[in-house]
Amino acid sequence: MPRLTVNDRPVEFRMDPETPLLWALRDAANLTGTKYGCGVGDCGACLVLIDGEATKSCLISLAEAEGRFVTTIEALSRDRSHPVQRALVAEQAIQCGFCTPGIAIAAAALLARNADPGEAEIKAAITNLCRCGVYPRLVRAVQRAGRDMRAASGIVTPAPAAVLAPASAPASAPASAATPENTAPLPTSN
Ligand code: FES
Ligand code: FES
Repeated sequence: MPRLTVNDRPVEFRMDPETPLLWALRDAANLTGTKYGCGVGDCGACLVLIDGEATKSCLISLAEAEGRFVTTIEALSRDRSHPVQRALVAEQAIQCGFCTPGIAIAAAALLARNADPGEAEIKAAITNLCRCGVYPRLVRAVQRAGRDMRAASGIVTPAPAAVLAPASAPASAPASAATPENTAPLPTSN
């Protein structure tokens, strides 16, 4: 029987080793945060981290995952405080939320490699399909998460250049819509 580590716990799946990991996670382990979208590798709804790499769990069998370390959205952070989760909420990059777990996994994998990705790199790395069309806000969310991660690690980056000339800038900027006070934990939908 395939044995792997799921969210830091050793698990033996008493299932056909050819079962896609997606169904083992959802139906046997009750980790329903990982979504079934297309089942053929196109949408990214089923992404999980396997040994730190974003991997489509609809395309990998239990046998192929044998002995590897799987992290699902439920364990990206134990209290839903991963910078990506917080940034997706803060930038309102969630509508129905169905695609969100896969996007969070893809973004976390990207930022683990590069905490300061440009827009093109984000679009290349996060190819998840979102029927609600959160794409522009998604880019902002990933960049926000990267800023937060760099700040937390003590990496200082220059502030972006001002867009407005000083004479035309308002006397005071309006409060951000995404202060810590008005952010909420990212829900993991079923
Ligand atoms: Fe796996 Fe769509 S369900 S990529
Ligand atoms: Fe609805 Fe992406 S938020 S599919």
